[in-house]
Amino acid sequence: MAENVQSIEGVQAEALSALDNIESSEALTTWRSQYLGNKGVIRGMLSKIGSLAKEERGAYGQGVNALKNKLTESHDEKQTALNNAAVEKDIAEGAIDVTLPGRARRVGRLHPSTHTLRNFYDIWSDMGFQVYRSRDVELDDYNFTKLNFPPDHPARDMQDTFYTTEKDVILRTHTSPGQIRAMEELGGNGTKPIRVILPGMCYRFEQITPRSEAQFHQVEGLAIGRNIRMSDLKGTIAEFAKRMFKPDVQVRYRASYFPFTEPSMEVDAECFLCDGEGCRVCKYSGWLEIAGSGMVHPNVLRNGGYDPSEWSGFAFGMGPERITMLKHGIEDIRYFWSNDLRFLSQF
Ligand code: PHE
Repeated sequence: MAENVQSIEGVQAEALSALDNIESSEALTTWRSQYLGNKGVIRGMLSKIGSLAKEERGAYGQGVNALKNKLTESHDEKQTALNNAAVEKDIAEGAIDVTLPGRARRVGRLHPSTHTLRNFYDIWSDMGFQVYRSRDVELDDYNFTKLNFPPDHPARDMQDTFYTTEKDVILRTHTSPGQIRAMEELGGNGTKPIRVILPGMCYRFEQITPRSEAQFHQVEGLAIGRNIRMSDLKGTIAEFAKRMFKPDVQVRYRASYFPFTEPSMEVDAECFLCDGEGCRVCKYSGWLEIAGSGMVHPNVLRNGGYDPSEWSGFAFGMGPERITMLKHGIEDIRYFWSNDLRFLSQF
């Protein structure tokens, strides 16, 4: 064997006996770099392989690698032993009080709105509705005109709008413009049925009060088909209410008005806090409003590319924040976006 190549057994004996004498983690670090470091003994041995006779190289290389593994293993054992000894010493000296209770870790939680939205997605997807995401920044045309709000129609005043510096570009005031987007993108020029929910944030230029925020979620629903009737709308919403609230919940429909549906109905569910007996939350009526809904107006079908003499549909819009407030007895909607951990960590 070439003169300048160290013997594996010799290095191993020397390294392990040095390791045996180590009593501090500083000394262990020094040992580690001396033997296993970038400029250490093992590296040195590997770099000399080339100076060996060809037939010796393989066995020597394997031997050095085995040595490296052995030293690494012994190092790790020593490190554990040193750590354990240090902890035992601290305990013996009273520096660690093992009888103290542990410190609880703060865990992250889902925002209550996220929670309710996920609940909505589960229920609606089980009922065959796909999630379709429309845009938050809309054109006036989609938010109003294509939804059958004529220009200057007083119905536009129902919703106070955030305008942008760009002409006709607004923040959507409801998720209903997504009805037109869905019909345009999924409808195949008025040839395909649609069954989607459209969740998202809506924005209204409103005085912020305990009951109204300038931003809030809505979940819109849209079903388009060749034979969709009012009974389908009523059955679908009743089924949702059963799954969302309780299996025997009562639902009622009140005639209402929206420019984009005809006929239009507001949907109430029996108050799930007092079972319809009357309480503060339902203002002693026994009923809670959960949705606006109706049959898609023929003009809206036409604006989405469908022929209203062959196609029909229903739509609804729900407010998840409102439902969350009712479920948890939250009395002020401003808590939702105020990022107060005292509120958020309760869910
Ligand atoms: N967009 C209506 C609102 O914001 C709700 C609605 C949606 C009503 C779909 C009917 C159909 O009040």
